[in-house]
Amino acid sequence: MLKRKTNPNKNTGIRKMGFDIKDKTVLVTGANRGIGRVIVEEAIERGARKVYAAVRETESAAPLVEEFGDRIVPIRVDLADPESITDAATQATDVDVVVNNAGVLTTCGPTDPQAFDALEFEFGVNVFGMLRVAQAFAPVLQANGGGAFVQLNSVASVKSFADLSTYCASKAASYSLTQSLRQSLADHGTHVVSVHPGPIATDMSHDAGFAEVAEPPTLVATAIFDAIAEGRFHAWPDSAAKQVGAAYGSFAENVIESSEHEHTAADNNPKENAVEEVHAV
Ligand SMILES: NC(=O)c1ccc[n+]([C@@H]2O[C@H](COP(=O)([O-])OP(=O)(O)OC[C@H]3O[C@@H](n4cnc5c(N)ncnc54)[C@H](OP(=O)(O)O)[C@@H]3O)[C@@H](O)[C@H]2O)c1
Repeated sequence: MLKRKTNPNKNTGIRKMGFDIKDKTVLVTGANRGIGRVIVEEAIERGARKVYAAVRETESAAPLVEEFGDRIVPIRVDLADPESITDAATQATDVDVVVNNAGVLTTCGPTDPQAFDALEFEFGVNVFGMLRVAQAFAPVLQANGGGAFVQLNSVASVKSFADLSTYCASKAASYSLTQSLRQSLADHGTHVVSVHPGPIATDMSHDAGFAEVAEPPTLVATAIFDAIAEGRFHAWPDSAAKQVGAAYGSFAENVIESSEHEHTAADNNPKENAVEEVHAV
């Protein structure tokens, strides 16, 4: 159990920071298909000024440009290519909201010999890629007033499934990092959202065998921009996700989101936080 004494005078820096995305500039990774594409459409629908469609191959964003004209700006981002991420952050300096949606899944049990390769592949994109996007764009968001960073996690972030073991491990890791980003980026005024869909009708869920129970990607897009507007951290978009979210809700509220357990970057300043102590017991 983690027990800590907190300084009652210290502001943890995490406040509800909801805002409307009307007239904002949004960047979405994996924007060309699946959930990412629908997030782009919802952003445009809600009045976003511009959406950077961050994709591996810029030609794959052509249908979005055709549909929405110059409000869509294709930009190359490959989550497995660190340079493409830092390059994008130097080009897209007007971004207010980053939605890191791109992700990969392999079906693999924990005792399969290929589990190590699968872990490496999924961690490369879903965890290392995600953290690189967050690190590259955190200063951009801060310079533009804070904005929001949204990470596509999953119900698999809080519940593992045997034949998706390595994917679940990667989504648990990205969720963990999303929690720490929420605390660190609060100092920048950046609101962080952790999105936890269940099966959603895309190529990914089809390939993983969830086609029959999958729900529409519009639920995810709606949940994301509602969470930004309302300043919420967790978003549980579809009916399967809502069930998990309801069961997890008390832990989320009383532990994950509780200010009693917050530890922001400012906590590392020993002068300001002389009474701070952490005891692992
Ligand atoms: N669908 C679900 O049931 C579900 C449930 C929970 C969470 N999620 C999460 O939601 C996100 C989107 O999933 P989805 O269902 O839309 O997946 P999808 O249909 O498989 O689409 C994946 C998207 O990610 C892009 N991508 C893959 N690897 C990339 C890389 N290295 N760099 C940049 N982009 C890359 C793909 O681009 P290309 O076209 O170039 O391959 C594509 O745009 C993922 O993070 C996923 O884990 C999905």
